[in-house]
Amino acid sequence: MIKILNIVGARPNFMKMAPIISAIRRRPDKLTQVLVHTGQHYDEAMSASFFRDLEMPPPDINLEIGSGTHAGQTAKVMLAFEPVLIAQKPDWVVVVGDVNSTLACSLVAAKLNIKVAHVEAGLRSFDRTMPEEINRILTDQLADLLLTPSADADANLLREGIAKEKIVRVGNVMIDTLFTQLEKARSSAILDRLSLSPRSFAVLTAHRPANVDDALTLRRIISAIEKVSAELPVIFPAHPRTQARLREFGIAPPPQLKIIEPLGYSDFLKLWSNARLVLTDSGGLQEETTALGIPCLTLRDNTERPITVEQGSNRVVGRSPERILAAALEVLSADSVRTARIPELWDGHAAERIIEALLKS
Ligand code: UD1
Repeated sequence: MIKILNIVGARPNFMKMAPIISAIRRRPDKLTQVLVHTGQHYDEAMSASFFRDLEMPPPDINLEIGSGTHAGQTAKVMLAFEPVLIAQKPDWVVVVGDVNSTLACSLVAAKLNIKVAHVEAGLRSFDRTMPEEINRILTDQLADLLLTPSADADANLLREGIAKEKIVRVGNVMIDTLFTQLEKARSSAILDRLSLSPRSFAVLTAHRPANVDDALTLRRIISAIEKVSAELPVIFPAHPRTQARLREFGIAPPPQLKIIEPLGYSDFLKLWSNARLVLTDSGGLQEETTALGIPCLTLRDNTERPITVEQGSNRVVGRSPERILAAALEVLSADSVRTARIPELWDGHAAERIIEALLKS
């Protein structure tokens, strides 16, 4: 029997871990699992609602770390996780994505000589000012099994000297969740609640420190969105960090930009999948919009997910108000959506391939 310790910490982890938990459950002859939540995200809207929507089992262990500086948060996860790992003695620690919890738990496991599998390995923005980029590079250096979503990720890892035998391309596990949840999301009442009809609105998300922690940058983004919102209503489910910054900087959003609380998975899926346009600085949403062919403008200077631009419906437009507006108008005036392709292995079966790779390693 192989014992797997699964790690989740922050919102973007939950939709990546849910299909892995289900796939492990389908192999009770070979696999057992324990779910550890670091507690990096702890609000109902940022954590508990995802467990419900995605029908995930409650965590077996919650480290209850909470918010903090990068060093503080990472260190607290490490200190709390080490005794858990010593007591649990798993064969594998499975980490997903690029949040502080991903790196902290990988580092603890590697030092205890416990094997680490990293799901979503190999993505690179080549921008080390992003905390996630540091987490990605270091986690990949520590991992024993690197499970990648696309060929560009394999190439990045090989370039960094990772042994070929450790890399397995499994596809995009978040898209497993997207496909599983689509039917359920149809019954979400979010459009009625916000009095919206399909394709008549845009959706905005923004929470990257580079976009929201600097008053001038945040003001410029909001001013660009103000111009977009003259064309169609923009719905903005705002991350707690962004809400705090808007208050702190005294930025009053225009009336056509509707700020709401962060949504759970089903409501948010229903919302963005019915949008005419998505504007975001999220990593995951660039991929999800590609999977459904919804036009996406990424409000960053780079992306660690270039396949969403090369094959999908994503465009990286930066933070200049003029560029954002011009790109938005282009999307809105287009008669038909630019043809987007769903990348190879984004087929809803990535979790099964992850389990196969774990069983073979
Ligand atoms: C983290 C991830 C980021 C991911 C994002 C999704 C890192 C380095 N970053 O960023 O990659 O895209 O999650 O949301 O791990 N807060 C709450 N309630 C919560 C969680 C956070 O109010 O449940 C507020 C706190 O004020 C906190 C701030 O949000 O200080 C930032 O939270 P933190 O976990 O440090 O990073 P995120 O910006 O959420």
